[in-house]
Amino acid sequence: MERSRFLLSIMLLLVHYGCIYVAKSTLGTGAAQTNITTDQGALLALKAHITGDPQNILVNWSATTSVCNWVGVTCGARHLRVSVLNLSYMGLTGTIPPNLGNLSFLVEMRFKNNSFHGTLPHELSYLRRLKLISFGYNNFMGIIPLWFGSFPKLQSFNLYGNQFSGSIPSTIFNLSTLQVIDLSENQLSGTYISTRYLRIYC
Ligand SMILES: *[C@@H]1O[C@H](CO)[C@@H](O)[C@H](O)[C@H]1NC(C)=O
Ligand SMILES: *[C@@H]1O[C@H](CO)[C@@H](O)[C@H](O)[C@H]1NC(C)=O
Ligand SMILES: *[C@@H]1O[C@H](CO)[C@@H](O)[C@H](O)[C@H]1NC(C)=O
Ligand SMILES: *[C@@H]1O[C@H](CO)[C@@H](O)[C@H](O)[C@H]1NC(C)=O
Ligand SMILES: *[C@@H]1O[C@H](CO)[C@@H](O)[C@H](O)[C@H]1NC(C)=O
Ligand SMILES: *[C@@H]1O[C@H](CO)[C@@H](O)[C@H](O)[C@H]1NC(C)=O
Repeated sequence: MERSRFLLSIMLLLVHYGCIYVAKSTLGTGAAQTNITTDQGALLALKAHITGDPQNILVNWSATTSVCNWVGVTCGARHLRVSVLNLSYMGLTGTIPPNLGNLSFLVEMRFKNNSFHGTLPHELSYLRRLKLISFGYNNFMGIIPLWFGSFPKLQSFNLYGNQFSGSIPSTIFNLSTLQVIDLSENQLSGTYISTRYLRIYC
């Protein structure tokens, strides 16, 4: 009798703490509810930071066309959110606004061979689903930020052919998912490292 009472109170305690836990986690994610409108806002902010588009490629990046049909944009089938942004070889000039950090479902970010310049905003570190970063052959500058070592799923990381300077952050070597890093053709101080699983060009 005494024992079952004890067990009951333990159970109530667990339920009690379970409720607190659920309440806390709902609060945590509830504050950051986003949808495809968030993605649209982030991409329109990017468009506003593009100062040169000689082929007028981004003409249909406007509210009259659904975001998932914008040139260079692919949405994931499951969440219907922007999963791939491929602006490679479009002859674009511009900078990267912090708003791109709002593309929370982004898996691939391809900006290869354009004239993007400036530094990379730390808000990009919010992109927890990123597997590929391709910024090769642009005019980005500044140091390679430490937060590049914080993407939990990053597999391919290419910054070659820019004006990045400074040293290679050691955090990058901590990414167990990483398969390829190419940091060549920058002004970095560092070493060439190659292991069985990881190729790094500096
Ligand atoms: C996205 O969420 C906002 C509120 O956060 C809402 O006003 C808007 O209608 C939503 N858009 C879609 C497409 O669900
Ligand atoms: C957007 O523009 C591109 C060409 O720049 C075109 O291929 C694509 O079909 C257009 N999408 C829509 C929905 O008009
Ligand atoms: C990215 O876009 C460029 C230009 O439209 C195209 O040549 C390239 O194949 C695309 N890359 C991928 C992986 O889709
Ligand atoms: C998107 O990001 C910007 C800058 O990082 C922020 O100010 C803004 O509130 C964000 N918008 C949404 C809808 O999350
Ligand atoms: C970038 O692409 C253009 C054609 O779109 C090409 O002429 C040029 O050689 C490319 N630059 C690099 C560095 O690959
Ligand atoms: C590497 O990751 C481990 C565990 O996540 C962490 O404790 C350590 O500080 C990291 N090292 C660097 C250089 O980021």
